[in-house]
Amino acid sequence: MDDDTRRLDVPMPDGLVLRRAARDTLRSDLAPLVTAFSDPWTDEEWAARSPAFVVERIVTAFDGEEPVACAGAEGFMLTVPGGEVAAGGLTLVGVLPTHRRRGILRAIIRQQLDAYRARGEAVSILWASEGAIYQRFGYGLATIRSAFEVDRSRVAFLRPADPIGRMRLVTLDEAHRLFPPIYDAVRVVTPGALTRDASMWRLGVLYDSASAAGEAGPKYLAVHETAGVPDGYAIYRVKPGWEPRGPKGALSVREVVGTSPAIESAIWRWVLDIDLVAKVTGDMLPTPPALLLALAEPRRLGVTLSDGLWLRLLDLPAALMARRYAMPGRLVLRVADAFCPWNAGTWSLEVDGPRDGTAWHQARVAPAGTGDVPDLDLDVADLGAAYLGGTRFEDLRAADRVRELVPGAVRRADRMFAADRTPSCSTMF
Ligand SMILES: CC(C)(COP(=O)(O)OP(=O)(O)OC[C@H]1O[C@@H](n2cnc3c(N)ncnc32)[C@H](O)[C@@H]1OP(=O)(O)O)[C@@H](O)C(=O)NCCC(=O)NCCS
Repeated sequence: MDDDTRRLDVPMPDGLVLRRAARDTLRSDLAPLVTAFSDPWTDEEWAARSPAFVVERIVTAFDGEEPVACAGAEGFMLTVPGGEVAAGGLTLVGVLPTHRRRGILRAIIRQQLDAYRARGEAVSILWASEGAIYQRFGYGLATIRSAFEVDRSRVAFLRPADPIGRMRLVTLDEAHRLFPPIYDAVRVVTPGALTRDASMWRLGVLYDSASAAGEAGPKYLAVHETAGVPDGYAIYRVKPGWEPRGPKGALSVREVVGTSPAIESAIWRWVLDIDLVAKVTGDMLPTPPALLLALAEPRRLGVTLSDGLWLRLLDLPAALMARRYAMPGRLVLRVADAFCPWNAGTWSLEVDGPRDGTAWHQARVAPAGTGDVPDLDLDVADLGAAYLGGTRFEDLRAADRVRELVPGAVRRADRMFAADRTPSCSTMF
């Protein structure tokens, strides 16, 4: 490569070179990802979706002229209890099978996390292909994602409910105008939710490709309006199907959002009542999904749980001060962090601040004094898991991850870290 102005001055194993990607070479810069996942983009998908990639944050490792590994990042504001925090979202990670297990990922994650921190991103987040890869780098499980698959004919709600407003199918352009403000109203009160820019909407959430439509049916966009005012929406696909005994369409829900629980529930009832559908599936939902508690026979929903958003603290004091707390109190945390050693040590978290006009208390975080007795002993991944208030310290202790050093400290920590709403993330990146 003659032009090496893109070369990054970071240590790489085996004499490899790490370079920033560029728009004109992007498809080959990301070739390792395509091979690692064995999921090539069609020309149509590439043309439609590649404009969304944040090229200046993508890096590629080269072995000579050959791109052998890549990773990238997107910047988000992540909702936390009582506020939001800048988050670097790690994505597009792939290493060629010929170059695995030589420390390339480790070197790239080092470069990425240092870059996020330098940009002022106090946390990093990601969706994992396999959690084991990222836990070793200090990511903890911050949201638990639920999915369901239900036989529509067997769905019965415990209580009847009259529709609140009405649903209307909309075009892509209309959805692009109507959905983001509705999403944002819910995002700001949902820990774990992420900002979505216009390209995330157009090229991600609302986008429909010929291959996806072929697999799961075309994407439908429907808005819920109460007295003509848009206050909720549904994004779903319907794959038609027939058998000798009748229709067996499959409806898969991408997202249902309502500005109040009642509206969201009304939209779910509408979705579950669409004709010619035998099976309905949903994913990326909070745990438990609200639907589970609405049904007469919850187990028919067939809920499954899996890991949601993984979160890593990059600047521990800044991250802990960016969120607010449900209770005043003090905690002394002894934190281990092998990969980002500036976070390691014993920290004092003191929540006694005013309620800043809301139900939340502010905190001060500083290195603990020499006489301070640690309350909890934990890894940075565990603090990342508990950070949004979804994963409880009590559950981390039961999993042998958090050690309580002062009796009652786990309970105190859970009361302080509690969130109003179940943390959940429905934005895949
Ligand atoms: C997963 C992947 C990125 C790892 O890259 P790599 O360059 O082989 O990883 P490294 O050699 O830097 O390994 C770093 C550490 O993670 C561990 N590790 C790597 N892949 C792992 C996996 N799948 N499961 C558990 N641990 C894993 C290594 O053992 C190593 O541990 P150590 O530092 O304690 O020795 C690569 O195998 C790959 O591209 N896989 C397919 C695509 C994929 O899953 N991408 C992730 C997208 S979310």
